[in-house]
Amino acid sequence: MTAPPPIAMLAELTHRCPLSCPYCSNPVKMVSRQAELATEVWADAFRQAAELGVLQLHLSGGEPASRPDLPELTRAAHEAGLYTNLITSGIGLTPNRLDALEAAGLDHIQLSLQGTRADLADRIGGYKGGFARKMAVAQEIKARGIPLTLNAVMHGHNLDDLDRTIEMAVELGARRLEVACVQFHGWATRNRAALLPTREQTEATKRKVAEAEARLRGTLAFDFVPPDYYSDFPKSCMGGWGSAGLNIAPDGKVLPCHAAETIPHLRFERITERNLRDIWYDSDAFNAYRGTDFLPETCRSCERVTVDFGGCRCQALAIAGDAAATDPICRKSPDHHRVTTMLEDAMRDAEGAEFTYRVAPR
Ligand code: FES
Repeated sequence: MTAPPPIAMLAELTHRCPLSCPYCSNPVKMVSRQAELATEVWADAFRQAAELGVLQLHLSGGEPASRPDLPELTRAAHEAGLYTNLITSGIGLTPNRLDALEAAGLDHIQLSLQGTRADLADRIGGYKGGFARKMAVAQEIKARGIPLTLNAVMHGHNLDDLDRTIEMAVELGARRLEVACVQFHGWATRNRAALLPTREQTEATKRKVAEAEARLRGTLAFDFVPPDYYSDFPKSCMGGWGSAGLNIAPDGKVLPCHAAETIPHLRFERITERNLRDIWYDSDAFNAYRGTDFLPETCRSCERVTVDFGGCRCQALAIAGDAAATDPICRKSPDHHRVTTMLEDAMRDAEGAEFTYRVAPR
């Protein structure tokens, strides 16, 4: 089949991060600093991405500000003609660094929000003083007029703060608020019981987002990611495998999604081994789950197949044991009972469940 060119690329510049959020979706085993790509290798990857058709580049991590060469990388992406979005916790973004990033052509910042109060946000981020630093950066971004999206990962501990989260987004001049209910990939799977929202919280969240979306139209746009486990149908993960976007991991592996390395039989080629165009169009990993032909009959005969493409391949593997299966979130999946069981187990263990951090809170 002929794949369309990708629209967006996520460059995971580093896995290093000052925060230690329990919902982190990066892999349990992370790439070391020594294995990270050099500046010029990233710059060449950005040029290749632009030639391939990528329009938007998300500079991510870990915390991308942990890389001293972040302004150089931003400049390289800007000069390649890419729209640059920095996905950051804000920690490490001093006024001087913001000056350098603006001069380099940074187009947009996506700032994470762990909570609306210092006690809660610092506990979730595992970093004392992090909230105060983040708010100072947010004010600096607002004063400079850099287009801002707030990204609030929501879970059982902060969903009841949604109203205040929305107010803060307006106060900080954000143009967009992502209300992203926690997804369980990577490290986050270790905190399922501690993070899972209740069904009541989920329903209240849907109502509040719909109400706020109507009330704030023209002021604040919303992206809402509902929690998978309470859904009847799966999400269209990545807009379909190898269809709209790609990721490059800190060590240069080119991935169809951020969790793709959990699929053990796939081999992912590195940007240092093969050019991006060939990896996108011709590599086995990108072609493994492209389109819908690989899906079981349950999906192929379903009217939603062109909406959700059978859901998330990584979740199908994690829950059903087969990356080519219908995502078990789907109520039509023969494995849907496994989701119900996981949900019941997590509910049972939720009472008093503590966060498991990658590193002890500071
Ligand atoms: Fe890999 Fe959904 S996270 S396909």
